Amino acid sequence: MAPARVLGTWFMILVQATLIIAQGIPDDIGINWGTISSHPLNPHIVVGMLKDNGIKKVKLFDANSWTLNSLANTNIEIIVGIPNNKLQTLADDYETAKDWVKENITEYVRGGKVNIKYVAVGNEPFLRTYNGTYVHPTFAALKNVQRALNEAGVGDKIKVTSPLNADVYDSASGIPSDGEFRSDIKDLMVQIVQYFKQNGSPFLVNIYPFLSLYENPNFPEEFAFFGDAANPLYDKGIKYTNVFDANFDTLVCSLKKAGTPDLKIIVGEVGWPTDGDKSANNDNAKKFYDGFFKKVANNSGTPLRPGKLEIYLFGLLDEDMKSIQPGFFERHWGIFRWDGTPKFPIDISGTGKDQMLVGAKGVQYLHRQWCIYNMDAQNPDGIAPQISYACTYADCSSLTPGSSCENLDKYARASYAFNMYYQMQDQNERACDFGNLAMVVRDSDPSTKSCSFPIQIVSAGMKGGVMKGVMVLAGVLLGLCFT
Ligand SMILES: *[C@@H]1O[C@H](CO)[C@@H](O)[C@H](O)[C@H]1NC(C)=O
Ligand SMILES: *[C@@H]1O[C@H](CO)[C@@H](O)[C@H](O)[C@H]1NC(C)=O
Ligand SMILES: *[C@@H]1O[C@H](CO)[C@@H](O)[C@H](O)[C@H]1NC(C)=O
Repeated sequence: MAPARVLGTWFMILVQATLIIAQGIPDDIGINWGTISSHPLNPHIVVGMLKDNGIKKVKLFDANSWTLNSLANTNIEIIVGIPNNKLQTLADDYETAKDWVKENITEYVRGGKVNIKYVAVGNEPFLRTYNGTYVHPTFAALKNVQRALNEAGVGDKIKVTSPLNADVYDSASGIPSDGEFRSDIKDLMVQIVQYFKQNGSPFLVNIYPFLSLYENPNFPEEFAFFGDAANPLYDKGIKYTNVFDANFDTLVCSLKKAGTPDLKIIVGEVGWPTDGDKSANNDNAKKFYDGFFKKVANNSGTPLRPGKLEIYLFGLLDEDMKSIQPGFFERHWGIFRWDGTPKFPIDISGTGKDQMLVGAKGVQYLHRQWCIYNMDAQNPDGIAPQISYACTYADCSSLTPGSSCENLDKYARASYAFNMYYQMQDQNERACDFGNLAMVVRDSDPSTKSCSFPIQIVSAGMKGGVMKGVMVLAGVLLGLCFT
């Protein structure tokens, strides 16, 4: 073989290898960036992470100006969110929609600075647990926002949609071909998808195999994943080997019955949590993601919608102030921890190559010190109310049954709770008292093999004051669960 050809071959291999690394995450994979955290990362650091990992799409839950400005000139494609509590005024008053678009869209897209593609009007507004609160205003809000986008001259490029939970459709028999929009909102859903079709908007759906497993103790576990181990579900000759495909195709059938068989579907949220439940851990999350990324890379889609899937992972970072009403796992959806460190190796390109994602750079931590239970304490009887107090304000979801810290003994549980509170209070000395039951230790990490006692980061100062109030209330109600 001529040396030139050998060299050429090597060159090709080199080029291909470089391409794979540079590609990192396939273009069709976006990620949800939520910020319901006591100590959110600086948005510039987060944008650095997105770039380092080749993530080219993000979905946001609001239009925070710091976040949007940090995404300027990155070419990262963005879905901007509008929270549910804005829906009513946006529906009632077109001027409000106009103001919202002017302040939160037009300002940013001018000159191509920020690449906004969709506006997500509301977030799962028809979720059953909202008892219909947002059913009425959503459609009018969608139309008002699109009209305002059109009037501002950006309506060709930027379309409205609304992220909907998979609970907006169901199937009486459990097989996809019997899928229909939920009976209580069916007429409305038909109108909305017809509008989406005519407007060029996609259907944004959140699909959670984890929740199928969590909510139903009889759910066949393997069917939540993407292996061959599951007992398949047959639907008129079509074989389903995982709940994701079956759920997605239930939507495809619902859309068909609503007269919009070809409406574009984007999966707005999909992922697996890593703590806060017996099925939520790194091993299961890795198993889910590995199967899922293989599927995405294969471009095979689902049986009824073959082809590329466009998806947004949920989520980027853990959020320690999310409501735990749906379950303790709510605060553990990140593929990164709250501080931007990757949790486990992941094969995100779906090509069989495990790698740690690139962690956040330039994160500043507080001192290497922890608040723990003082073994010399005089009054150990007072321990339970003190744990309860700490957990009312801080995140103790990792202490719950099935979670990473469940096996700690009584004193270590106290230490865990005290430390979470102390870190949340930015290691304020007065936050490590607990009726004289606690003490600060330096340089001696109380973490165990499975249970990590975190050191908090220096906050970027974006604290959600309102959220904090809400969480304190929820915490008061739930505080007792942790003792
Ligand atoms: C723009 O979005 C931000 C963040 O979601 C919100 O607080 C603000 O009220 C919005 N502006 C207008 C004019 O509605
Ligand atoms: C919905 O209704 C249930 C039962 O009546 C109630 O417990 C819950 O708090 C309500 N949720 C909301 C968001 O109103
Ligand atoms: C990959 O695609 C082929 C054909 O499209 C399909 O038969 C196969 O099951 C797919 N593999 C995975 C892992 O999805």
